[in-house]
Amino acid sequence: MPENTHMKKVVVHSALPEPLLQQLRQHFEVAYFPQIDETHRAAFLHALGEAQGLLGTGLTVDRSLLAAAPALKAVATITVGYDNYDLPYLNEHGILLTNTPDVLSEATADLVFSLMLATARRVVELADWVRAGEWRANIGPAQYGVNVYGKTLGMLGLGRIGQAIARRARLGFGMNILYYNRSPVPAAETTLQARRLPLEEVLAQSDFVCVILPLTPSTVHLMGAREFSLMKRSAIFINGARGRIVDEAALIDALRKDIIHAAGLDVFEQEPLPVDSPLLAMKNVVALPHAGSATHETRYAMAQLAVENLIAALEGRPQNLVPTSTASAAVKPH
Ligand code: GLV
Repeated sequence: MPENTHMKKVVVHSALPEPLLQQLRQHFEVAYFPQIDETHRAAFLHALGEAQGLLGTGLTVDRSLLAAAPALKAVATITVGYDNYDLPYLNEHGILLTNTPDVLSEATADLVFSLMLATARRVVELADWVRAGEWRANIGPAQYGVNVYGKTLGMLGLGRIGQAIARRARLGFGMNILYYNRSPVPAAETTLQARRLPLEEVLAQSDFVCVILPLTPSTVHLMGAREFSLMKRSAIFINGARGRIVDEAALIDALRKDIIHAAGLDVFEQEPLPVDSPLLAMKNVVALPHAGSATHETRYAMAQLAVENLIAALEGRPQNLVPTSTASAAVKPH
């Protein structure tokens, strides 16, 4: 088929399921880079030079990359978070940015909850112990964990994913919900009896502290040595948001010195987590590979929504827009 010279050009920089790629190709001329390594980089930059649309995940879309895309009109990230985009640049150049909210909330809440259960009940550690042939008699206190049911959960962030976690905690596990959030969430206060408190109070009163807020200039290293020292010694720390919200060195120190009891982590300051990270040597740490939304169904739904977002944005009826102008600044690249 001859190339339609009137079609807008878009660059896809992540692997997409075939039906979604086909859907995009019905609307645009698509330059497809299921991955970008050194062998594809030049071709990718060349395609970017002509692209009106960009779609994918996992790329640092900073000023220098955007400067190579002078025709860009819309960007669709296959994520809910967008801290890897230079928002002021997008705003200054009138480039739309869309994300994939809602479709990932329940799957991410499931995964975060699994970290709470795994750390409290030592699921990974005990499974490894059984596999290693250590289970030779009835278990005793050395293998006991701590209860989840009925404990106090402190949510740092109570957006869509946070509310899905709090719902599981309250309705399924009879937990008391405290939360620290920019603004009150009346629905959660009514249906889940959640109480909004200052950060320090949430940290001091909670048995589980769960970070699930966006990485912005004001949340970088929100959790540092002082904050860990305010937590109960018996408390479990969970991060399902972004690694850089936590001062990881301070977290490692708090775990080493028994300032907190355990940690369940899906995200890290550096990803992939270096294999020599001290966190991996700690039995009271469960580390996952940034897998919050990683189910077949949810990842497909996210990709589908991103494709629909890009089509809608380039056809002049944008949806799921990220408010680039309200961001005071982009988070500085690591
Ligand atoms: C995952 O971390 C996302 O932002 O979707």
